[in-house]
Amino acid sequence: MKKELSLVAFVGQKGGVGKSSLARLLAVAAARAGHKVLLADFDLEQLTCVEWNAARLRRNIEPEIDTRAFKSLKKLRKTEENFDLIVADTRGLADDLTKEVAEESSVVFLPTGTSEDDLRPTLALARRLARQGAEGKIALILSKTGRSERQIAQAQQKIETEGFPLLPAAWGLRDGLQSEFDHGGTGLEAANHYLREIAESASGAMLKRVFG
Ligand SMILES: Nc1ncnc2c1ncn2[C@@H]1O[C@H](COP(=O)(O)OP(=O)(O)OP(=O)(O)O)[C@@H](O)[C@H]1O
Ligand SMILES: [Mg+2]
Repeated sequence: MKKELSLVAFVGQKGGVGKSSLARLLAVAAARAGHKVLLADFDLEQLTCVEWNAARLRRNIEPEIDTRAFKSLKKLRKTEENFDLIVADTRGLADDLTKEVAEESSVVFLPTGTSEDDLRPTLALARRLARQGAEGKIALILSKTGRSERQIAQAQQKIETEGFPLLPAAWGLRDGLQSEFDHGGTGLEAANHYLREIAESASGAMLKRVFG
């Protein structure tokens, strides 16, 4: 019998949309809420989450996040421990592994920018995943958004028109967040309360989608 995984995944057709940063943010938020979490890095070329975790460990940032690289879902299923939540970060281009991970996940997060350049491929991937049976699992999240409320509202409108669920919080693009990431943080650890608020509202929306 296949092992039941409490898996959620971050996928995307485009690179650089915020999959890894949001995966780490969700993992830390869930761990802070007392869940036993595994952050599974499927991007073996970049190992973004694994490298970030090394920086986090070097700085003794709590909670520690169990972060491991995986080549396949089969390998992930072989882990003996039970986790309340496994957060999968996938490679940039949606490939067979992405499809497989999405199939096994209870929630599939698709981060997207507000531009047409980002929305078009994201919505195309959402439609494809929906056709492949992931319809009820899809959650779009506006990611790396600028400060224009109008652009955010327009993107929300487009996503709504297509009928895909969108998380009610946007992951705002801030220089300060980048520094937090470089030091093993997620935004939740930031001393600056504006940065913390962005991380808290995005992670709160993701936690709600995952745990209800
Ligand atoms: N909210 C944010 N504010 C500032 N910088 C951000 C934010 N989110 C992500 N970034 C930066 O944007 C870049 C891409 O983000 P990230 O690595 O999370 O995207 P990705 O979708 O995982 O990319 P890839 O497709 O290469 O795996 C990184 O340099 C990251 O530090
Ligand atoms: Mg990544």
